[in-house]
Amino acid sequence: MKLQIALLAGDGIGPEVIEQAVKVSDAIAKKFGHEIKWIPAITGAEAIDKVGTPYPDETHYICLDSDAVLFGAIGHPKYDNNPSAKVRPEQGLLKMRKELGLYANVRPTFIFPSLIDKSPIKSEIIKDVDLIFLRELTSGIYFGERGRKDQGNTAYDTCTYRRNEIERIARKGFEMAMSRSKKLCCVDKANVLESSRLWRETVQSLEPDYPEIKVSYEFVDAVAMRLIQWPSSYDVLVTENLFGDILTDEASVISGSMGLMPSASIGKNTSLYEPIHGSYPEAQGKNIANPLATILSAAMMFEDSFGLKSEADLIKKVVNDSLELNYVTKDLSKTGSYKSTDDIGNWISNKILKSK
Ligand code: IPM
Ligand code: MN
Repeated sequence: MKLQIALLAGDGIGPEVIEQAVKVSDAIAKKFGHEIKWIPAITGAEAIDKVGTPYPDETHYICLDSDAVLFGAIGHPKYDNNPSAKVRPEQGLLKMRKELGLYANVRPTFIFPSLIDKSPIKSEIIKDVDLIFLRELTSGIYFGERGRKDQGNTAYDTCTYRRNEIERIARKGFEMAMSRSKKLCCVDKANVLESSRLWRETVQSLEPDYPEIKVSYEFVDAVAMRLIQWPSSYDVLVTENLFGDILTDEASVISGSMGLMPSASIGKNTSLYEPIHGSYPEAQGKNIANPLATILSAAMMFEDSFGLKSEADLIKKVVNDSLELNYVTKDLSKTGSYKSTDDIGNWISNKILKSK
């Protein structure tokens, strides 16, 4: 297969972890006879510094023109403590999601048995966890009307959802549930919010189209609690943008490290794959960041965007081997000795090339 992939390394540890995912993908291409053309493009703080905007048009056209986008991370501390900054790296991420029409963000949480004791939660509670969040990504409070009034002393952000925006992500949730254990949880705050009531009403109206799916409706505060108490009771969860942002960070630590979980954002145009973690500026340039979430994001890309399941399975298997051998970065080290970001990328790509 001939593939063109847009490569958006972004800020912080983005370039370091992306480099490892490229090595691993190139090893896969060599092994299975594919040809990958990588097209690098700038985003985030790097793009602000170079051209004054975090998601330049040129980057957008490169993404639209590619078969998939592999993305590192966005964000820089010089903007975090400056609430009056006019342009912020995160605006690039939101613009990219909106312009690429990436309305469905798929964020799995699963357990690597060899890391079960790295989780902050007791192993008997998490041992069977295998869940997927579908987070709505291009609407809600992230994109609603916002502003200040009363000479700046009152601020507001509004959460608006249209029925069709809810329906398209809910259908993805139903379809995903069909391919898994036929359980779907709709997470909302319908006891308080009107937008949540429309979510619930819309999901309910779709139930007859998927008679095999058992749907539960739960309030977001209760889900936050049950994710810790009994996470294995969930399978597919569908929710709006802000609830999804918060709950997926919570869920990601169940697996033991934020550096492990991949994600996909899918929608109208090219799909985008990225690690769940952020730009982790403290680790930038130190060669200590965990590249596995990005490598696993590349695996998701092979499987979901290109239908290359054997390729994805090989990446996942070798990642699992590295963990079993305790060949890990600092965040996962049990002994005090650990490998660098580069070491992990090299080890995994060599194993792929040598595999039978
Ligand atoms: C995420 C991030 C972003 C979000 C930020 C960086 C804008 O936290 O991808 O979850 O809130 O969506
Ligand atoms: Mn987030």
